Amino acid sequence: MNTTGPRYSRITGTGSHLPPRRLTNDDMVSMLVARGVETSDAWIVERTGIRARHFAADGVACSDLALAASRAALQAAGRHAEDVDLIIVATSTPDMVFPSTAAILQHKLGIAGPSGCPAFDLQAVCSGFVYALAVADAMIRAGGASCALIVGAEIFSRILDFDDRTTCVLFGDGAGAVVLEASGEPGILASDLHADGRHVGILCVPGTVAGGRVSGDPLLKMDGPAVFKLAVGVLDSAARAVLAKAGRTEADLDWLIPHQANIRIMQSTAKKLKLAPEKLIVTVDEHGNTSAASVPLALDVAVRSGRVQRGDTVMLEGVGGGFTWGAVLLDF
Ligand code: ACO
Repeated sequence: MNTTGPRYSRITGTGSHLPPRRLTNDDMVSMLVARGVETSDAWIVERTGIRARHFAADGVACSDLALAASRAALQAAGRHAEDVDLIIVATSTPDMVFPSTAAILQHKLGIAGPSGCPAFDLQAVCSGFVYALAVADAMIRAGGASCALIVGAEIFSRILDFDDRTTCVLFGDGAGAVVLEASGEPGILASDLHADGRHVGILCVPGTVAGGRVSGDPLLKMDGPAVFKLAVGVLDSAARAVLAKAGRTEADLDWLIPHQANIRIMQSTAKKLKLAPEKLIVTVDEHGNTSAASVPLALDVAVRSGRVQRGDTVMLEGVGGGFTWGAVLLDF
């Protein structure tokens, strides 16, 4: 890149990985009926748009999914792991309490060592990838990195309560990654991030580790209708804010890739932006809600299917526990 002009960041490659075990809604029905929990394919499809999800096998760690997605993104960018000078992993289901999954990923990529690049996790639940992209963009523009690996990776199947039908049918496992590089051309046009900690209780895993054992409930709790109501409002406000910051309008958008939690929330966001339905990238049907992995997974699917092309204007949006939300607008 030109070293004298303005410095921006741009996505140069995308990758993703889904664990091979795919469960349809009917598979979930069979699994839950055996526990005395009633649900149906019809209910899940009608309320959420989800038809299937992937679950990681026992022994597979979040960093393993992150590694596969990272390798695919590096290959797409034409980069080697040795080129990476910053790693951020967005996750709520890390390998360990500490160290970070990003540090473990750095080691698995074969680039750990005495002058290893910075590597850290970012915890903003389902908004994590959008947060991480905005942080990496700021670091690159400030000259702190030139070739960043940004990953969203989750194994939510390990924190689900399979006796709670209101949550366990919604989530899946997976990982998505992008390589974000310094560029003389934007790239990332603007970002808009928010959190409102008053809503901690509507979506949380309240347990922790204390005194050598799990203290409190280590499984996911969600007040679905409360999250739904908040999500619809904040996704709309973040979309408008990020467009205004970038000096663009809804008419400039080629693609909307919102957090893949519920088709009804996604369609409502697209409708408010007066976006044609085909400009909404949908993977929730096949992946379920993969939390921080959902946006980069959907981006990679859209890129590899030939829909998102170089130069397209794309809006990424996240919303989740915290309550957190945000949007990133970019020219791909
Ligand atoms: N199968 C059958 N029936 C069910 C199931 C199920 N799996 N789950 C709930 N029901 C029943 C309920 O018991 C209730 O029955 P009742 O009327 O007899 O009491 C009925 O269905 C309706 O329940 P609601 O919770 O009101 O259903 P709603 O239409 O709100 O859909 C849902 C629930 C899908 C969870 C929705 O609220 C939602 O998607 N919320 C947002 C989730 C989200 O966006 N999360 C993003 C962030 S995720 C993160 O950050 C980790």
